[in-house]
Amino acid sequence: MYTKPENGRVTNIKPLMAVLAGSPEATPPIWLMRQAGRYLPEYRALRQKASSFLDFCYTPEMAVTATLQPIERFALDAAILFSDILVIPDALGMPVTFVEKVGPVLEPVTDARGVDGLKPGDGVTDHLTPVYQALRILRADLDPGISLIGFAGAPWTIATYMVEGRGGHGFETVKRLMWQAPDVFGRLMDRLEEAVAHHLIAQIEAGADCVKLFDSWAGVLPEPDFARQVIAPTRRIVDRVRAAHPDARIIGFPRQAGDRYAVYAAETGVDAVAVDQSVTLATMKSLAETVAVQGNLDPQLLVAGGEPMEARIREMVAGLAGHRHIFNLGHGVVPETPPEHVAALVAAVRGNA
Ligand code: CP3
Repeated sequence: MYTKPENGRVTNIKPLMAVLAGSPEATPPIWLMRQAGRYLPEYRALRQKASSFLDFCYTPEMAVTATLQPIERFALDAAILFSDILVIPDALGMPVTFVEKVGPVLEPVTDARGVDGLKPGDGVTDHLTPVYQALRILRADLDPGISLIGFAGAPWTIATYMVEGRGGHGFETVKRLMWQAPDVFGRLMDRLEEAVAHHLIAQIEAGADCVKLFDSWAGVLPEPDFARQVIAPTRRIVDRVRAAHPDARIIGFPRQAGDRYAVYAAETGVDAVAVDQSVTLATMKSLAETVAVQGNLDPQLLVAGGEPMEARIREMVAGLAGHRHIFNLGHGVVPETPPEHVAALVAAVRGNA
């Protein structure tokens, strides 16, 4: 029996794992996407010591410290490994740099030569050994009631960065490659699927309790491409991870999937689906009939704080009571977020349950 004194919760199974395994918790487990990051002064101080963002990710001691910073401050129910989805293109031999105020910049891969010149997908785990080392240290250090989450980008989202050379813009180049050169694009997606499956399996073997697939740009795909580029590769990755580890718990986040979250939940075989802030509580309840559902406070409401945030938290916690709910945001914590608002959020979620 393990007792977590800060909030009086007494449990012998990690709350996040209980919800993923099928039982609702009276107090929903809570963690936040980008819970480690620039909104924390201790993160900014640590970040200054690294020569580059990727060096930061590949130095186990630094990655461990960053992972634990939000846990030490807020006693969250889960620690997510400090890393990035773009370690996969880096491990495939494609240099990635993170430019201040711009974000990630890559040398775009737009043709057969670029795609076929990438390293093999099953080789990424050699390049990523420092990531697994960080997980092993975390596994040993973490309080036993706190879950450890590993993650990867999903193939479609990683492909958008690799083909566009940057993130979150028009997606013209990647869509054109997908439709005009389906064989080349398919080979890129296959390579990514292979790499992601190996990376997730290695993270579970290094001690992750569960893994999450971030498909941040899933919502930009029309039909039938959403089924082909989001659902199908995710299903195959889930199958490969479960073939290696039948009990593996997997969270999927096809961001901005709208009315396609339900088919994603039904067809991919994930244990939980994370939803963005546009999804209603009614839809979350209906998703929670078959999978755990994670989300979905607006990250800007966390910046605003105060009564509007607290009112929405009360609504969410009451509305999803008795359901398999994991409290989170609809997307990552933004750098402008006052840390004391995160403390207030955690207290409100636990106080209102
Ligand atoms: O706390 C955590 O959530 C764990 C660590 C984590 C990071 N990135 C750290 C990070 C996770 C899970 C990610 C996932 C990630 N990375 C996604 C999927 C989730 C999402 O946001 O949609 C995506 C699309 C990326 C790609 C990426 N990495 C971008 C677009 C950027 C630049 C944006 C920014 O905030 O600067 C990054 C850099 C990055 N990854 C930072 C952090 C803390 C900021 C880097 C810095 O310190 O300057």
